[in-house]
Amino acid sequence: MDGANKSRKMVTKTRDVLIAPSILAADFANFGAECEAVEAQGADWVHVDVMDGHFVPNITFGPDMCKALRPHIGTVMDVHLMVAPVDPYLEAFAAAGADVLTVHAEAGPHLDRTLQAIRALGKRAGVALNPATPLSAIENVLDRIDLVCVMTVNPGFGGQSFIPAMVEKVRRLDAIIAGRDILIEVDGGVTAATAPDVVAAGADVLVAGSAVFKGGSVAAPETYGENIAAIRQAAQSAIGVRI
Ligand code: DX5
Ligand code: ZN
Repeated sequence: MDGANKSRKMVTKTRDVLIAPSILAADFANFGAECEAVEAQGADWVHVDVMDGHFVPNITFGPDMCKALRPHIGTVMDVHLMVAPVDPYLEAFAAAGADVLTVHAEAGPHLDRTLQAIRALGKRAGVALNPATPLSAIENVLDRIDLVCVMTVNPGFGGQSFIPAMVEKVRRLDAIIAGRDILIEVDGGVTAATAPDVVAAGADVLVAGSAVFKGGSVAAPETYGENIAAIRQAAQSAIGVRI
């Protein structure tokens, strides 16, 4: 960790749920101000969705955009790489200032090597699992993982509906993690309505795009604050509840 990172809210398992707004739902023409607004309104992390038009059927942006955003994000920059192959790009995203680099288990044949490369770059290593991907994909690499992202939609687009069967997947993942210092993140269709079940199942980090940015703007950022507060309140109400 560099000095600047020390003050960021980080990456140790507690039972405080972290809210990570996805800037996929922000104004693409105003990302810097959007990141600042959402953080000022209570975001714990900022989630950055990188899509390559190959692994997923959509294209967003690359490491240069992450680098440009970095000065506008004071907290953890959580970079979700929906990219295949991903290994050739890890160094560039690390240099761009990512704190967490999350790769997809489905994106390459050598996940163990990829995770070693992320840690060698001094970054937290995350693995995302598509809805159809079994948890066995990460069972043999748990000692190389800081975060598992359970996709609760099929990746590629914001604004999709939460897949309810993923709640049970989160619960089983929590059992597999068995107290290790590995965060469980959920990504896709998270709202104040869907948050309680995933938190009760063991989720630590909630990514939310549409549910945070809906109705707000950098000119009316308090709406972001209200949206974040609603998700947080719903999430915290489920802490300690076991399903
Ligand atoms: C989907 C992305 C998500 C998405 C979440 O591929 O990984 O981060 O932006 O957006 P919502 O919260 O709108 O489902
Ligand atoms: Zn994402």
